[in-house]
Amino acid sequence: MRKLRLGVMISGSGTNLQALIDACAAADYPATIEVVISNRPNVRGLERAEQAGLKAVTIDHKAFDDKESFEDALHECLSDHKVELVCLAGFMRLLTAGFVNRWRDRMINIHPSLLPSYKGLHTHARALEDGVRFAGCTIHYVRPEMDNGPIVMQAAIPIASDETEESLIAKTLTYEHKMYPAAVRLIAEGKARVSGNKVAFKDVDLVMPGLISPLP
Ligand code: GRF
Repeated sequence: MRKLRLGVMISGSGTNLQALIDACAAADYPATIEVVISNRPNVRGLERAEQAGLKAVTIDHKAFDDKESFEDALHECLSDHKVELVCLAGFMRLLTAGFVNRWRDRMINIHPSLLPSYKGLHTHARALEDGVRFAGCTIHYVRPEMDNGPIVMQAAIPIASDETEESLIAKTLTYEHKMYPAAVRLIAEGKARVSGNKVAFKDVDLVMPGLISPLP
């Protein structure tokens, strides 16, 4: 089976990376992780990559004079490993339009909210503060504007009456870990493709029952 070559970029704990590592361990999974890049040294995600026998590289943004040379190093590393799809998984540096456009339609991100609501940081706390009934998470293709781009997959996560920021973060992560491997699979199998500013699906069942919270 031809496998899509992934490059995963992280900055921290790497639980989404772990979900991808676990998925790629299955013989019939249509993707393979060629390199894991962290912009921060000694993070847990790098250990996860090493434990899985993957190429794990630190490209520390602090070691570069400017953003362009940092991003040139990222680009070179991804290109050297013949990466076909970049997966941002808790990568906490904003990327320039130049870098994003070099990887246009070949780079996806996971964000812990139902985009386009709650771009940026502290998404769970802000959703709780607003009293919305649903939080969520989104996998989207990356465009130069932060947390923007064609949406591949989303989860709507009902907020419980006793929800705390910690419980919502934990709950959201369980959905993230299911979604990231599933979204990569759709892309690898050619079932999800960018078309304009949306993702078009082929042979995918998009019909789901609606959710109401609180129950009427
Ligand atoms: C996740 O919540 C992801 O949505 C966000 O950063 C977090 C990364 O967590 N972009 P991890 O490093 O995968 O554990």
